[in-house]
Amino acid sequence: LLRPGDTVVIEEPSFRGAIEILRTAGAQLVGVPSGDHGVAVDALEVAVRRHRPAFVLLQSTVNNPTGAVLPNQARTAVARMSTDLGFTVVDDAATADVLVDGPMPRPLAAHGGRIVTIGSASKGFWGGLRVGWLRADRSTVDRLTVVKGAEDLGTSIPAQLVTARLLGRADEARAARRAALGAARATVLDTLAAELPDWRPRVPAGGGSMWVELPEGWSATAFAERAGRAGVDVLAGPTFSCHDALDEWLRIGYAVPFEVLHAGLVRLVSCWNALSGQATGA
Ligand SMILES: Cc1ncc(COP(=O)(O)O)c(C=O)c1O
Repeated sequence: LLRPGDTVVIEEPSFRGAIEILRTAGAQLVGVPSGDHGVAVDALEVAVRRHRPAFVLLQSTVNNPTGAVLPNQARTAVARMSTDLGFTVVDDAATADVLVDGPMPRPLAAHGGRIVTIGSASKGFWGGLRVGWLRADRSTVDRLTVVKGAEDLGTSIPAQLVTARLLGRADEARAARRAALGAARATVLDTLAAELPDWRPRVPAGGGSMWVELPEGWSATAFAERAGRAGVDVLAGPTFSCHDALDEWLRIGYAVPFEVLHAGLVRLVSCWNALSGQATGA
């Protein structure tokens, strides 16, 4: 799919692992803004026309870190654009199993276009399984099968057997994730509203993280570093940017046991109060 030096267009922000894998493969990354409703379709079109990328990488169903889901109309527009302008979209749907709000949207690939969809057993079942799947046209599947075989010499058979058994209980697993993540999301939103009213969270439609805009003038990198020293791990926006931007944004991960979440939020609030008190001279 990619040769060193090729351009890949990705959402800004995007999953850090994808940014690293693409950079290691020698890709030049071009970011397109991604907001409450996923990738900005107009900006995507401009970027594709200008850069003629090897492919576009999207997370249509639950962006990590924002938790956004691409609406149906935008899916149709992206699929049509892929056909009209002749580019491939890799739709990383690994996080679709942790959708919290609403019914599962029709997959991007169901709207037409040249779409490669990737998924994973990690989010619905367990990350330790290391089993994923891919849906694409036959020749892409054949090519990637050869590449994968050369890279990992095959996926663990016990892990595949466990996954095959679990697939029969996928709905049950999704319902359990939905309940747990919905409750954790409410806890974070309630705490921010009560304790940190200047912070501007985006309400994620799914996933295990909240994308929060800090009050003007604050660096998320500096704050995350201080929070880490106070014993709470949060990630600063530039982690999810291919341009080292987004330093006004912070990612709060909440896919953790409730006691851990509660303790983390207490530390986060007290760290912010200490810092902002210093900054205002209080
Ligand atoms: C958007 C996205 N894609 C892929 C992955 C990686 O999934 P896996 O555990 O299957 O490697 C993650 C993990 O957090 C993710 O958030």
